[in-house]
Amino acid sequence: MLEPDAKGSIHLADNLDVLACLPSASVDLIYIDPPFNTGRVQRRTQLRTVRSDTGDRIGFQGRRYASLVIGRRSFGDEFDDYLAFLEPRLVEAHRVLAAHGSLYFHVDYREVHYCKILLDGIFGREKFLNEIIWAYDYGGRPRRRWPAKHDNILFYVKDIEGYVFNQEAIERIPYMAPGLVGPEKAARGKLPTDTWWHTIVPTNSAEKTGYPTQKPLGILRRIIQASSLPGALVLDFFAGSGTTGAAALELGRRFLLVDNNPEALAVMAQRFDGVEGITWAGFDPTPYQKDRTTAAPVLGSGTNGGMQTARANVHLPQRLPG
Ligand SMILES: C[S@@+](CC[C@H](N)C(=O)[O-])C[C@H]1O[C@@H](n2cnc3c(N)ncnc32)[C@H](O)[C@@H]1O
Repeated sequence: MLEPDAKGSIHLADNLDVLACLPSASVDLIYIDPPFNTGRVQRRTQLRTVRSDTGDRIGFQGRRYASLVIGRRSFGDEFDDYLAFLEPRLVEAHRVLAAHGSLYFHVDYREVHYCKILLDGIFGREKFLNEIIWAYDYGGRPRRRWPAKHDNILFYVKDIEGYVFNQEAIERIPYMAPGLVGPEKAARGKLPTDTWWHTIVPTNSAEKTGYPTQKPLGILRRIIQASSLPGALVLDFFAGSGTTGAAALELGRRFLLVDNNPEALAVMAQRFDGVEGITWAGFDPTPYQKDRTTAAPVLGSGTNGGMQTARANVHLPQRLPG
């Protein structure tokens, strides 16, 4: 799994294979942000069989039948397929979580209801603590409905009696109307609620890796600070650009990241360039890293260190689902 003195490990693999190898109750915190489209879209044709003297199918007692197409389902099947893809992975996620562990499941408004029902079935409805709304304000505005400018993060715990939640470690935020609370309270700020205002990763920021579905470090920092202790093991098995690992490293947690896309691993190779104590499985990061031995800052956690520049043979995808 992870060597005792390792800071993190990064795997190029199907996450189900990696999950199956992890010991039960070995992970302290899981954050995942699965893609919506698994690329396994099924288009199922619905048929009805009717008696017909000219039919091409022969049934009981030599009677002939024809098949009539009565419909084609694609959206529903695509969705069933998505849940069928997620379910075994979420069952494993529940198994590998320690008793004090938590799962944060990042999704959007189109799927959140279905995913909540799936997760309620796996964790138990009473283990659901919050639906966090991450609100941002970016991108196009359709004219014929309210522009959708939020994501949903479902927060579950394994054991309602003994989970980690460090309220005092959570960074406080400014009051919306500081004039109403007095100078002392205003200076201290307030704890965030279940609605988090946070920009998306700005296009020309040091944090930007070029991975299309990259989530902001600020969101991951808040999750990791609240729901794990220093030294904890944080797992993200839909790792993408490695945001969870970058936040974990910054906060003194260990991480285990999995992605099955080599482009994601190439981005992570750059992001963690110069950080010692990371092991790689199924992927050689060195062609994407500078040849040096001194530790460099992780992209987005201070100075850039030039990591935004794509190097040797890194071909970043233009768009990823999710
Ligand atoms: C929405 S992105 C995650 C982005 C990430 N949160 C970040 O901040 O960069 C989802 C990732 O899941 C990966 N993925 C999809 N199916 C997978 C599978 N079966 N095993 C491992 N990774 C998978 C995709 O390659 C993609 O990088």
